[in-house]
Amino acid sequence: MNVLASIEAVSAATAASAEAPAIRFDAVSKTYPARGRDAQVSALDRVSLAVAPGQIYGVIGRSGAGKSTLLRVINGLEKPSAGRVLVDGTDVVTLDGGGLRALRRRVGMIFQHFNLLSSRTVFDNVAFPLELAGVRRGAMAARVDQLLDLVGLADKRGRYPAELSGGEKQRVGIARALATEPNVLLSDEATSALDPETTRSILDLLARVNALTGVTIVLITHEMQVIKEIADRVAVIERGRIIEEGPVYDVFARPRTATAKSFVASVTGSSVPADLAEELSTQPITGGRAVLRVLLTGAQATAPIISRLSRGADIDVQVLAGQVDRIGGAPFGNFLLAVPGRAEVVAAALALVRELGLTGEVLGYVA
Ligand SMILES: Nc1ncnc2c1ncn2[C@@H]1O[C@H](COP(=O)(O)OP(=O)(O)OP(=O)(O)O)[C@@H](O)[C@H]1O
Ligand SMILES: [Mg+2]
Repeated sequence: MNVLASIEAVSAATAASAEAPAIRFDAVSKTYPARGRDAQVSALDRVSLAVAPGQIYGVIGRSGAGKSTLLRVINGLEKPSAGRVLVDGTDVVTLDGGGLRALRRRVGMIFQHFNLLSSRTVFDNVAFPLELAGVRRGAMAARVDQLLDLVGLADKRGRYPAELSGGEKQRVGIARALATEPNVLLSDEATSALDPETTRSILDLLARVNALTGVTIVLITHEMQVIKEIADRVAVIERGRIIEEGPVYDVFARPRTATAKSFVASVTGSSVPADLAEELSTQPITGGRAVLRVLLTGAQATAPIISRLSRGADIDVQVLAGQVDRIGGAPFGNFLLAVPGRAEVVAAALALVRELGLTGEVLGYVA
């Protein structure tokens, strides 16, 4: 099938199953048994989620949270201890050997350390899954060339992995994962071994592949920047449990748990600078200032908060930290402001923040 035909086929399949999720977890648990002196580990604990067809679904968590386990139950590499995992409506847990092989053709995977075959050229690495699937040589060569074009490596087809940069190796990994025209692409920390600029180019490629083919992507990472760049929806996982889940913008605007707050703060410039944090007191200080956090989100993201505070309300306002970002194409601002610490001034500032439709809170007081 050529690229266009496959895009049409995928779009048709996507349209047909518009309501049915591409992936669904129903109360999935995975327990690794105790071994030696190691206690039993609950890697996944009653995880339920639904990934819509064509979505880029991010899963973020710290090391050991259960992210890789969550991916590995999707392609049947691990069997859940309890619960159901549905991929395109099929319960993965019930598949036999043949069923699992068919599933893995529909579910591609890319890895942090690329997992390329070092003795094979770029071309032969990408061709490998097609050989396994018994595709004829002629059709295979045409498909591999298309894929190398797609990932921008047409001129490197005869090179060996050792001759490639990290970013190029991951492009080979992506081409190989797409070879069998999967409906789902799983990404396990695919950019964690890359520098920030290469990371961006790989995320751009994944977003382009997603837009072009409609492939559903499940992306696991420990970096909120990755989620911010390309995910539509995000689940925050901790100790095998999903502790927060929703559209990326909503989780950025209203993180509820300490873990989600710290992930969000890591990329929105909303973490309190260390020297300021040290000075912060919970009690007002005579003649001192109050430190406010103000979030500028949604339609209000461009509200003229600083000028309204200073000129409109005649409040002496100082910007301590902050930035305006774009998340999922929508503006998102996060500022730390200092205003005079007298109770009536703080109350007036917070009232104005609310009047503008923004969210604000007092973080503490400084001298
Ligand atoms: N095959 C296994 N046998 C026993 N325990 C395992 C196995 N695989 C994972 N675990 C344990 O399950 C928990 C979750 O592991 P998992 O690899 O899913 O975490 P992760 O979020 O991917 O971490 P990282 O970010 O470090 O890759 C960890 O406590 C880990 O030690
Ligand atoms: Mg992992």
